[in-house]
Amino acid sequence: MTSGGSFYITTPIYYPSDLPHIGHGYTSVAVDTLARWHRQAGDDTWMLTGTDEHGQKMLRAAAANGVTPQQWVDKLVTESWFPLLETLDVANDDFIRTTQPRHEQAVQAFFQALYDRGYIYAGEYEALYCVGCEEFKPESEIVDGTGPFEGLKVCAIHSKPLELLQEKNYFFKLSEFGDRLLDLYKTEPDFVRPDSARNEVVSFVKQGLKDLSISRSTFDWGIKVPWDESHVIYVWVDALLNYVTAVGYGADDENFQRRWPAYHVVGKDILRFHAVIWPALLMAAGLEVPRGVFAHGWLLVGGEKMSKSKLTGIAPTEITDVFGSDAYRFYFLSAIPFGHDGSFSWEDLSARYQAELANGFGNLASRTTAMIERYFEGIVPVPGEYAESDLAVHKTVADAAAAADAAIERFRIDEAISAVWTIVDELNGYITDNAPWMLAKDDAQRARLGTVLYTAAEGLRALAVLLSPVMPEATEKLWVGLGAAETLGRLQDQPIRAAGGWGALRPGTSVNGLAPLFPRVEQPA
Ligand code: MSP
Repeated sequence: MTSGGSFYITTPIYYPSDLPHIGHGYTSVAVDTLARWHRQAGDDTWMLTGTDEHGQKMLRAAAANGVTPQQWVDKLVTESWFPLLETLDVANDDFIRTTQPRHEQAVQAFFQALYDRGYIYAGEYEALYCVGCEEFKPESEIVDGTGPFEGLKVCAIHSKPLELLQEKNYFFKLSEFGDRLLDLYKTEPDFVRPDSARNEVVSFVKQGLKDLSISRSTFDWGIKVPWDESHVIYVWVDALLNYVTAVGYGADDENFQRRWPAYHVVGKDILRFHAVIWPALLMAAGLEVPRGVFAHGWLLVGGEKMSKSKLTGIAPTEITDVFGSDAYRFYFLSAIPFGHDGSFSWEDLSARYQAELANGFGNLASRTTAMIERYFEGIVPVPGEYAESDLAVHKTVADAAAAADAAIERFRIDEAISAVWTIVDELNGYITDNAPWMLAKDDAQRARLGTVLYTAAEGLRALAVLLSPVMPEATEKLWVGLGAAETLGRLQDQPIRAAGGWGALRPGTSVNGLAPLFPRVEQPA
């Protein structure tokens, strides 16, 4: 991608019926990393996140806590969901709440437009509903209950009983969009990624689509249907629309033109909503479909999808309090191939923190800067003539930067990190092989010592730039420690697609005592 193109990316909007757990945090840090990368590449970037505040799930959570739904969401959003962004160092550009007037008004306008275009009709409905999913369940996701739910039909995802709902609803003519959707998946093979997700969506649509119930009349916690106030708009339609209402649909055409369409990153459990229903709604309204939908896998704890309702939920602060936000971001984004499920364990997190961050990257940074301080009074030396082993480092840096950018284009953050990590590994080997501490003992090797330490420092410069979207805090420390902030400007302004070029760090820069990037941690009990 060339610099300057529009790059609009979203997280799903989270249900604030409960507290955030590390699964929610996973989606957010992935999207934040992609957004930071594009921002640093000079693309016209916009990152949106937010909360999905209507529907029955919210109503019940509020009732169970003896407050109104508005009080409940206000409390959870301000006390837990906003702070989550700080906890994880997420630099979103906007935060939408579906109870905001800007959203509610635009949702009504969209709904009216669909009605006027003939895509909505009134009908009767009877089906099994899961409040956890906020969805009428398809046959394939209905299973027989066990234990306390013996004899009942339960949701395959939540393992909780389904409810038989019968009411008059408004319907969206989803069934009319099957062919156009299949055509979309064919002409835009990257519309749904990864391939496993794409295959699932294609075979789902090929089975034939049923019209979708898009209003509810048995409760009123939602946005009213504009022409029939006895109905509220189905929470999923309300929620999906956040992606357009937040950038000015129906209110600010100029901004809408500038931002839309978006890339959506979602957990695989909500893929169908994003890759089937959402583009169909947009087609019906005569709007452009999203640029693409990327489905990531689940975080598993003890082999199961981690969830609050199954009591396997882990709060993000349990990790960041011990290891810090960079380690959280690095761990989930590097250890799990993006698009696949991944098992979380404290042992794995601790081991990777120690091996990759503290011993691998952190140690490389501290020994390089310490040697520049010791042998060159803290001034980055001028490199002499480059030998073959130095040129090999230049090549590794150039190749890693190009490979990482290509991986980010494919949304493979894990592959981008492993490409960048080749620089860490190469430099650690390079220092061991060149043994600057030996060169320092021999005056005749002074120029060689300068070349070796310049090479290591310049490699660290590239690492700081390339890893800053993943680990903004540690790389900022390193940037300041290398003295680069004074000569090259702010880290987040360094053009990331040029990071692989050799020689940006200026000899003569003074390094400033670098505190350990990844300090030793007390192991959690
Ligand atoms: N409100 C809907 C989304 C509406 S978007 C128009 C919703 N909210 S959610 O809070 O339940 O989930 C939000 C995101 O968190 C989803 O992408 C979901 O997959 C992700 N995760 C929830 N639990 C997760 C794991 N255990 N692992 C990975 N991601 C998980 O769905």
